[in-house]
Amino acid sequence: MKPSHLIAGLLLALTLPALAQEDAAARRLALNHCGACHSFGEGEAARQGPNLHGITQRPAGSAEGFAYSEGFRKALAGRKWDAALLDLWLADPQAVAPGTVMLYRQDDADKRAQLVRFVESLQ
Ligand code: HEC
Repeated sequence: MKPSHLIAGLLLALTLPALAQEDAAARRLALNHCGACHSFGEGEAARQGPNLHGITQRPAGSAEGFAYSEGFRKALAGRKWDAALLDLWLADPQAVAPGTVMLYRQDDADKRAQLVRFVESLQ
């Protein structure tokens, strides 16, 4: 084996557990901050908020059978969730959709970035 391959292999071996740890931390954060109101698994029932599985693959406000607030529907109907919109949403849902009933705000940009990555991974 070429030394460069060995080094690449070593780096990968060192990086993968770190990434897995980061994923686990993001999942914990999401469970603590969103889990009371949202389910994450495919086909899981809605809670106070809609199920978030595949959220970036479908238009906003399209979880089947969920009764979104009027404010949410007015502001977000037909829009797509992406990292930028999710970040704005978590920072201040009322600023994105005045009248929304999601009562949550996250001022810490690092935590929002972790939460957005986690939500995007739900596919
Ligand atoms: C106190 C309950 C509550 C908490 C906590 C909460 N949400 Fe929500 N969320 C809601 C409700 C209710 C809605 C629907 C809003 C409406 O209809 O106005 C919603 C809507 C959403 C939507 C839009 C879903 C769609 O189908 O378009 C996303 C995305 C979302 N929440 C993400 C999150 C994330 C990520 C967290 C955690 C960081 C979180 N929420 C925390 C209650 C909550």
